[in-house]
Amino acid sequence: MSGAPFLLAQLDAAHDRAAFSSDSEPLNRYLREQVTQDIRRRVAACFVAVADEQRIAGYYTLASTSLRLTDLPASVGKKLPRYPTVPAVRMGRLAVDQTFKGQGLGGALLADALDRAARSEIAAFALMVDAKDKAAAAFYRHHGFMALPDSSLTLFLPLATVQPTDRRL
Ligand SMILES: CC(C)(COP(=O)(O)OP(=O)(O)OC[C@H]1O[C@@H](n2cnc3c(N)ncnc32)[C@H](O)[C@@H]1OP(=O)(O)O)[C@@H](O)C(=O)NCCC(=O)NCCS
Repeated sequence: MSGAPFLLAQLDAAHDRAAFSSDSEPLNRYLREQVTQDIRRRVAACFVAVADEQRIAGYYTLASTSLRLTDLPASVGKKLPRYPTVPAVRMGRLAVDQTFKGQGLGGALLADALDRAARSEIAAFALMVDAKDKAAAAFYRHHGFMALPDSSLTLFLPLATVQPTDRRL
C-alpha cells in the first residue's frame, strides 16, 4: 500500500486502544473494552497496524471456527470430504481508524489475515467473516469472498487460493 508505513503487531499493552475511532462505534468499543479479556480467555487473537507513537490505525481479530458442509455452495462442498463440518478461521472484527480510511489499509489487513491463516500449521479450509452490514459484505466480495447461499452476510474465501505475501504493510 502507499503512504505512511505501518508496523503490524499482535496487540499489547503499549498500544493506544482508547484513541481508536473507526466508523463503527461497536468496533471501537470492542477494542477499548472487550478485546483484552477475549485474548486472555483465548477466544480471539488481535492484530494491529500501528502508526506513530503506538497509535492503532486498524485492527482485526482471528479465532478458530467451523463451517457446516451443507451451508457451503454445492459447487464448493462437493469437492470436500463428507465430514459434517470443515475447519475454518473466523475474522470476527476488522476496522480502520477514520484518519487512515481509503488508503488501502483495510485491504492490507485483510490480506495479512488471509496470509496468517494460510501459513498456519493448523489446517483450515477457509477464512470466514460475518459482515456487519451490506456495505461490509460488499468490501469482502470486492476482495474475492463468496457468500453462503442462505446467509449473504456470512462470507468465506478458501485458503488454498491465497498466495503467500511478504507481510509488510
Ligand atoms: C471496511 C473498512 C475496513 C475498509 O477499510 P479501508 O482502509 O477504508 O479500505 P481500503 O482503502 O483498504 O479499500 C480496499 C479496497 O476495497 C474497496 N472497498 C472499500 N470499502 C468497500 C465497500 N464497502 N464495498 C466495496 N468495496 C470497498 C476499495 O475501493 C478498495 O478497492 P481497490 O483496492 O480496488 O482500490 C473500513 O471502512 C472500516 O473500518 N469500516 C467500519 C468497520 C467495518 O465496516 N468493518 C467491516 C467488517 S464487519
